[in-house]
Amino acid sequence: MKKDLEDFKSQCDIVNVVSHYVVLEKAGSSYRGLCPFHDEKTPSFYVNPQKGFFHCFGCGASGDVIEFVKKIENLTFVEAVEKVSELCGIDSPLISSDSEFSRYVLLMEKIAKSYHEMLFEQKTALLYLLNERGLDRENIKKLELGYAPINSDIISSNASKMNMNTEYLLKYGLASRGSDGRIHEFFRDRIIFPIKNPSGKIVAFGGRVIDTGEPKYMNSAENKYFSKSKILYLFDRAKKKIKEVDFAIVCEGYMDAIAFHKNGFENACAVLGVNLTKDHIKLIKELTKNLLLVLDSDRAGISAMEKLGKVLVNEDLNVKVLTFSDAKDPDEYFKVHDRMSFEEVIKNSLDYWDFYVRMAMGETVDKLKAVRRFAESVKWVDSAILKAELIQRVSKILMIDEKEIMYELGTSSLENNSNNKSSMNVKTRRLDFDDYIIYMLFLNENVKLNVTEKIDSSYLSPFAKKIFEMVSDKNYSPQEVLKNLNKEEGEKFFQIITSDLNIDDVDTTLKVAMNKIKGRKIRSDLSMLEMEMMSTKDPERKIALKKKIMSLYAMLKGK
Ligand code: UTP
Ligand code: MN
Repeated sequence: MKKDLEDFKSQCDIVNVVSHYVVLEKAGSSYRGLCPFHDEKTPSFYVNPQKGFFHCFGCGASGDVIEFVKKIENLTFVEAVEKVSELCGIDSPLISSDSEFSRYVLLMEKIAKSYHEMLFEQKTALLYLLNERGLDRENIKKLELGYAPINSDIISSNASKMNMNTEYLLKYGLASRGSDGRIHEFFRDRIIFPIKNPSGKIVAFGGRVIDTGEPKYMNSAENKYFSKSKILYLFDRAKKKIKEVDFAIVCEGYMDAIAFHKNGFENACAVLGVNLTKDHIKLIKELTKNLLLVLDSDRAGISAMEKLGKVLVNEDLNVKVLTFSDAKDPDEYFKVHDRMSFEEVIKNSLDYWDFYVRMAMGETVDKLKAVRRFAESVKWVDSAILKAELIQRVSKILMIDEKEIMYELGTSSLENNSNNKSSMNVKTRRLDFDDYIIYMLFLNENVKLNVTEKIDSSYLSPFAKKIFEMVSDKNYSPQEVLKNLNKEEGEKFFQIITSDLNIDDVDTTLKVAMNKIKGRKIRSDLSMLEMEMMSTKDPERKIALKKKIMSLYAMLKGK
C-alpha cells in the first residue's frame, strides 16, 4: 500500500498538476511562480519535477503533489489522492484490488475475453470483419474485437463466476429486465468493440450489427464508470502518439478510428456518436494544441465541423479540417488509398478559418455572390480582428481586393441597422472629424499621400494619430493596423473604414480638415500662452503675451 502510493506519486507529473493552479516558468531544472498560499509580487514558489515536491521560500509551504492539491483545494488526504489521480489520468492507488471499480473492470475484461473468443467460433461475424471491413486477425486481436451471440449469456455467466448478482448487472446497466421479468443482455448478434477509459481499462462496449440492420451501432448504457461525453474510442492507444507527433486526429466512427490506426495514424480517436465535449477537449489539450478534424464528409459531418471548429478555436486549439471528395469517411478513404496519400491529404487540409470562409461563401463561380454570402454569414463575428482576418482569406481565395469585400460587409451591416432601428449599436455612431481623416487614409493611394503630406498628425486625436503614424511611417495595410490595435480600438477602426461615406470632393474635404487642424493648433498654443500669462510676473512679458493671445483669438474668429 505504502509502495503503491510512492509509485503513484512518482508517476504523477507535479508540474502539470501545479500548472492547473499556478502559472509556472522554467527556472533552471525547477519551475517558479507566484505562491498560491500567500500574497506576493515576486515569485518565490518553486516546483521541482525531479524530486516531485514544491517549496515556497516566502511562506515556507512545501510538500509533494498530494499535499499541494490537499492544501489548495482544501481536501482530505483521500480526496486529494483522488483529485491528483483525475488530473494526471493515473489510477488512484487507494482503490485496492477489491474496490468497486477494479471489480467492475475485471468483469468487463472477462466479458471482453469471452466475446473475443466467441468471434472465432462464430464465422459470420469474423468473415464480415475480414472480408467486408478489411481487417486482419492481428488487428482483431490487438483491438480485442468480439462477437455477442444471439442468445448470449456471456455477461451473466461471467458475472456469476465473480459472485456478482443480477442486481449488480442492472445497477451498472449491463443487462435489463424485460416485461416478462427475464433478464436480457444488452448485445445480441453484434460485433463487439471494447471501449476503454483513457488509462486503458475496459469500461463499456460498442456493438455493431453484422452487415445491415437497425440500430447500426449500440453502446453500453452509461453508468458511473462510462460516460460517452468523457471517453473517446482508442484514445488510450492514441495518447502516446498524439504527444509524439504533436497533433490529434478526431473522427466520427469506430471503424474510422480503426482504419487510421491500421494505416499507421495511431494518433486518431473517435467520438462515440456524440459531439466533442469539453471533457474530450480537456483530454486532448493535455497532450497537444493541434487537432485535425476528420468527421464524415457528408452534409451533417461538414456542418458539425463548422460548428465544432469554432468551439475548438475558442479553446485555443489550432484546428485543421479535412474533407474527402471521393469518400464518405476515413474508413472508406483507406479502402482505396494508402498511408502515403493520406499524408498528402493532411498537407492540404484547411486551417479552420479557411474552411469556414469556404463554407460561408458556398460553391459558386460568381465572386460577388460569394462575397455577399460571406458577408451574410459573418454577421455573428463581433471581433474586428477576426473579421479582418476572414476578409483577408476571402480576398486571397477569390483574388479580389479586400476593400471590395469590406464594402460589401459595410453595406450589409448598414442595411442591418436600418431594419433594426431600436438597437442603436456602435455602427450608427456619427463619425467625427478624426474619423474622416482615418477614412481618407484608406480611400486610395492618392488620397492617402495627399492626407499624409498635408495633415500634421500632432493635432489629431490620440487614436487617429496612432493610425495616421502606422500608415505614414510604416505604410500599414488595414489588416496590419488591426493587428496593432486592441479589440475595442479595432472595432472602432473597422467601423470607420467600412463606413459608407461619400467623399466626392477630396480636395475640399482636405481643406476643411487642414483648417480644423489649424484651429486645434491655435487652441493648443492659446492654452500654453494663457498658462504663461498667469504665472509670469514680468510686466513687459505680460504685455507681449496679451498681444499674442489677442491675435490668436482673432485668427480663430476669422474662420
Ligand atoms: P455512421 O453511421 O457514420 O457509421 O456512425 P460508420 O462509422 O460509417 O459505420 P460503418 O462504417 O458502417 O461501420 C458513426 C458513429 O456514430 C455512432 C457510432 O459511434 C458510429 O461509429 N452511431 C451510429 C451510433 O451510436 N448509433 C447508430 O445507430 C449509428
Ligand atoms: Mn463508415
